[in-house]
Amino acid sequence: MIKTRLYKSSDLDKPSVIEDIRQTLLQGKNIVFPTETVYGIGANALDLKGIKNIYKVKGRPSDNPLIMHISKEEDMYVYTKDHQSYVKPLARAFWPGPLTMVLKKKDLVPQMITGGLDTVGIRLPANEAARTIIDIAGVPICAPSANISGRPSSTRLEHVIDDFMGKVDIIIDGGKSQVGLESTVLDVSKEVPVILRPGMVTKSMIETIVPKVIFSQSLQAKDIPKAPGMKYKHYAPKGSLYILRGQEQAMVDYINDRTIKHHQMKEKVGAILTKALAGKVKTDHIFTIGDADNEQMIAANLFASLRSMDALNVDVIYTMAYEFGPYQEAIMNRLLKAANYQVINLK
Ligand code: TXA
Ligand code: MG
Repeated sequence: MIKTRLYKSSDLDKPSVIEDIRQTLLQGKNIVFPTETVYGIGANALDLKGIKNIYKVKGRPSDNPLIMHISKEEDMYVYTKDHQSYVKPLARAFWPGPLTMVLKKKDLVPQMITGGLDTVGIRLPANEAARTIIDIAGVPICAPSANISGRPSSTRLEHVIDDFMGKVDIIIDGGKSQVGLESTVLDVSKEVPVILRPGMVTKSMIETIVPKVIFSQSLQAKDIPKAPGMKYKHYAPKGSLYILRGQEQAMVDYINDRTIKHHQMKEKVGAILTKALAGKVKTDHIFTIGDADNEQMIAANLFASLRSMDALNVDVIYTMAYEFGPYQEAIMNRLLKAANYQVINLK
């Protein structure tokens, strides 16, 4: 067990804290730090020891590549090559911010980051603390989301403490993550860019810079049928999560009716709903995720809502399809995975 040092992002101007962060990263150890999307667990991207430790501490499969975080656009050219003409305009439009660009890597980028691929994901975060930490390190920082593999990503300090207290050297408290969903991952290594993971930099936003953008094949099947007996573990809460689709009253009636049945089986029920519906259901625990017309808030609260149900030890969770507004691809991508594609279509 490591004795984790906890700092605040406002401590990043203190010489002793700066020195501790620098030494920790240069010694191949890990720190958890805030970004505008979700918290990240970071290591010196050029040091195999720190990278190896991330995979170990997260329990992450070694073929799932990590994103390299930089603090200046120029650094993209140090680590990647063969840029398409639209790459610079995209960087100008969306960096710093929640966009990761997958580019052909140069040899100095360790294979261990990329899971053996010849491309690497590069991101220039908007969060000032994140950029300060990269500058303190003086090297890029590779960082996956700061969650134990399979769990919802961390968007609050308490999530990070739950997963990594005693397992990393430093945790930096940056408060609530502003965006709440991980960055858009865009493969820009080919003539037509491909969205590998939808995020808050949306397809139509990217299309204002590049005329043609496509969603990757794997994102196009909306309700992938689950393989029998095989649980897709990603963002998953401990309770069984169901997404309801249909009229508001039908959803309310369904949840109330099912709650009675679950109680007969001694099961605890939770619901994650917009404000309008939250007041109408009668379950053991209700998480109000935000107003239906505020998708940004729904996105920012999504992972926290799933983790709060874990903390309350509910057996079953009902939520709704947030299929409205500009961020619906990003939100539903996470929610469908979290629910293992369990969708109930009501009238
Ligand atoms: O917002 C974010 O991107 C956060 C914060 C911490 O920056 N990071 C994050 O990292 O979400 P992670 O490791 O949880 O997700 C990275 C995603 C994975 O789905 C990974 O497969 C994909 O990006 N990815 C990374 N490098 C790639 C590459 N070279 N080719 C294809 N996919 C890649
Ligand atoms: Mg992740």
